[in-house]
Amino acid sequence: MNLVDKTDQTFALTTPLYYVNDVPHIGSAYTTIAADVVARYQRLKGHRVLLITGTDEHGQKIQRSAESLGKAPQEFCDGIVPSFVTLWEKLNIQYDRFSRTTAPRHAAIVKEFFGRVWQKGDIYQGQQKGWYCVACEEFKEERELLDGKRCPIHTNKEVEWRDEQNYFFRLSKYQTQLEEFYQSHPDFIQPESRRNEVLSFVSRGLQDFSISRINLDWGFPVPSDPNQTLYVWFDALLGYVTALLEPDAEPTLANALATWWPINLHLIGKDILRFHAVYWPAMLMSADLPLPNRVFGHGFLTKDGQKMGKALGNTLDPIALVERYGSDAVRYYFLKEIEFGKDGDFNESRFINVLNADLANDLGNLLNRSLNMVKKYCAGNQVSVSDETISAANPLKTIGLHLGEQVQQAYQALAFNQACEAVLSLVQASNKFIDEQAPWSLYKQGQQQEVEKVLYAVLESVRLSAYLLSPVIPNISSEIYQQLGFGINFNEQNQTTTAAPFSIHSQWGLLSNKQLLGNPQPIFKRIEPPKND
Ligand code: MSP
Repeated sequence: MNLVDKTDQTFALTTPLYYVNDVPHIGSAYTTIAADVVARYQRLKGHRVLLITGTDEHGQKIQRSAESLGKAPQEFCDGIVPSFVTLWEKLNIQYDRFSRTTAPRHAAIVKEFFGRVWQKGDIYQGQQKGWYCVACEEFKEERELLDGKRCPIHTNKEVEWRDEQNYFFRLSKYQTQLEEFYQSHPDFIQPESRRNEVLSFVSRGLQDFSISRINLDWGFPVPSDPNQTLYVWFDALLGYVTALLEPDAEPTLANALATWWPINLHLIGKDILRFHAVYWPAMLMSADLPLPNRVFGHGFLTKDGQKMGKALGNTLDPIALVERYGSDAVRYYFLKEIEFGKDGDFNESRFINVLNADLANDLGNLLNRSLNMVKKYCAGNQVSVSDETISAANPLKTIGLHLGEQVQQAYQALAFNQACEAVLSLVQASNKFIDEQAPWSLYKQGQQQEVEKVLYAVLESVRLSAYLLSPVIPNISSEIYQQLGFGINFNEQNQTTTAAPFSIHSQWGLLSNKQLLGNPQPIFKRIEPPKND
């Protein structure tokens, strides 16, 4: 299964635009980390990438949060947005666009898009009756509700009854077209389990949905009727389009769609799958626009086995986590420990154990001990052999020759845990190899050439591992590359693409006998468990 690029050159991807009813929690960080890893991987491959993130600021949920603090909604949003920006900086997220749905240019895009759908005859007035979850900003079917009329997602929130005149979007008209699209684009919705959910939902028959609200001020006015505001989701999904505008471009659909459309990948959580995999494509069909290539719905994070979320009040503060452990640690844990697409848990002891085992012990010690041995046993901080002297039967070379391809396939499939596991298997094999080969004994026996060959194989394994993990742990990978004598910082996008091209650096055998190695420094400090544990 491959990521289909519209051309070989560009790759546009999105995180959801996050609600600003509260500061970000680890759930929002999770999607954004994954998106950053995909973006970095695509950049390593030499593609031009546009990573879009941002905030979803309209609607009743935000209006009420602002009211509860006695603030005007815009002032309230302006106060929350910086906490997202700060978190992305701390997590080392290299986004290209930050789309705010309250931006004036977004108003222009929404208006034009609404006009297209209106012209198509896909918007009409009707009576909306039903149960509404403000936390989801979505109508629920009665049979979905939990006891006490509670929302199945925000289980501590009661839904509210609505009976009002709204504008509707003719979703039902697109039933067949959508079904044909899903059939002809089997990779559109991933993973497979989510695709099946959507197919079964659609097969039960699509109903038109209301795209406006009455008695709600905080939103864009409906262009054809200023007494109503547009439904927050209609406006929010279009935030992806607005984000495509060049900073100084006039806000027209033509300008927005000129370079990066269609978007290659929407990364979202499973709770907002219907909006992205059903409503959004239907809206685009109505506007006669090409559809995105792929929507991937990941699972939910729990904390110590409990569901986690803003509405439930048991959130894990991502800022505190990243300040305590660093960005690479947080990124690595969530991607290595949780199968993307499945639910996963955060538990601090497990977190500490995984990081100590993989990054401090397996990877960190391997680099440290092998560089120390080079200093001790080899002249001039160089190993005097190159790959030609390493037999194809060498166990590390055997793994290393296929690793680039294997890891590449894992990144393409968004199987981040498999990418990390595959690399780790080379790291672990290297530790075993060094123990078995015992270069210290070989040295004593005067087998200098053998010593150098062992150290070459191990150091080349560390280099390859660092390169292939660089989308996940860019700081540690840069540190390793520096110590191996490469002046490459994986956080410098342009430098990496030109100085460390994927076609060369993802392959086994790059290290040479000319490479001047650096001084060993710890790359990841062992974490001491908190005293009260
Ligand atoms: N504003 C909408 C998205 C509009 S996109 C045009 C929204 N925002 S949100 O802030 O509530 O949620 C954003 C993302 O966070 C969703 O993808 C959701 O799945 C994800 N998560 C919220 N809680 C989560 C967990 N506990 N675990 C993992 N992801 C979770 O929905």
